[in-house]
Amino acid sequence: MTVAKEALRDGRGREVSYLRLSVTDRCNLSCLYCRPKDRISFIPHNDILRYEELLDLVSLGREMGISKVRLTGGEPFARKDVMVLVESIRRRFPEMDLRLTTNATLLAGKPALLAELGVTAVNISCDTLDREKYARITGCDRLDLVRRAIDESLAAGLRVKINAVALRGVNTDEIPAFVRLATDAPLDVRFIEFMPVGDGNLWKPENYIAAKDVLSLAVRAAELVPEENGHIAGGPARMYRIAGGLGRFGVISPLSEHFCDACNRLRITSDGKLRTCLFSDREYRLRPLLRNPKLGLRKVREVIALALRTKPLGYEVLNPGAVPEARNMSAIGG
Ligand code: 5AD
Repeated sequence: MTVAKEALRDGRGREVSYLRLSVTDRCNLSCLYCRPKDRISFIPHNDILRYEELLDLVSLGREMGISKVRLTGGEPFARKDVMVLVESIRRRFPEMDLRLTTNATLLAGKPALLAELGVTAVNISCDTLDREKYARITGCDRLDLVRRAIDESLAAGLRVKINAVALRGVNTDEIPAFVRLATDAPLDVRFIEFMPVGDGNLWKPENYIAAKDVLSLAVRAAELVPEENGHIAGGPARMYRIAGGLGRFGVISPLSEHFCDACNRLRITSDGKLRTCLFSDREYRLRPLLRNPKLGLRKVREVIALALRTKPLGYEVLNPGAVPEARNMSAIGG
């Protein structure tokens, strides 16, 4: 196996090292900001990339310069045997920085093995700490499962990051409670600005709140000490240590303070389409290439290289007010 000696770069010179793989568009929740409740049409099974195909993509990515892989969904654990995929990736690519984003409702019983497999961190989507509100946001009364999975993950020694979509009038009153959560436990809470992605009517301007306003609510609850160099380790989150606390609180501001200039990501949807920008509906169909023995990974590599040349700046795509709506977040994986 050859590993890229030179960094993979896009047409603007940005280094690309991070691959987000959506392993399924299915989810056992239906969060009000992510997809409409009445959505019943999932991508047909045959159109979803098989595990061998995902492994081939990771292998190609690694050859091209990818060093970090995140499995997303839908809900990754809603796909059968996803732990087998995690194990296979780890076995074949021992040095890969491997992470997962999950709603944690199906995570119980798995954190110990994830830790053993050297999964770097689990990002857990949890927008509220109130049981009834959780049921209203997600359509399911499962907050207790999430809380238990968070505890189990911490006990297993996994790094835990809680993602909460900042929804004005929905969970902004809970910012102090989230600060307390990160005070009492060694975990990161990140409030993410509500992004206008998918299905037109999910995003409501009255629910949007900018990261700086989230922070001004948070500093009323605790003293926050900014981490040096703001955006830690090149990631999009701006994190703060909580004075006297075990964990950290932070914000991710894709809209008010975009981080497109440092974007290092590629996304592949569960049906095998490459997206070079969350905010652009331009997709490149990799699945037919993967499944054509005459084309295969050689052609996929060409298409990725070609797509990278025009990887856009998300804020330029969004500026004219054009909301990407070909897919809901549930089919992209955040
Ligand atoms: N805006 C902001 N964040 C979102 N997520 C899903 N949809 C949106 C949206 N419209 C979050 C999920 C998950 C992360 C990958 O993206 O809650 O934690």
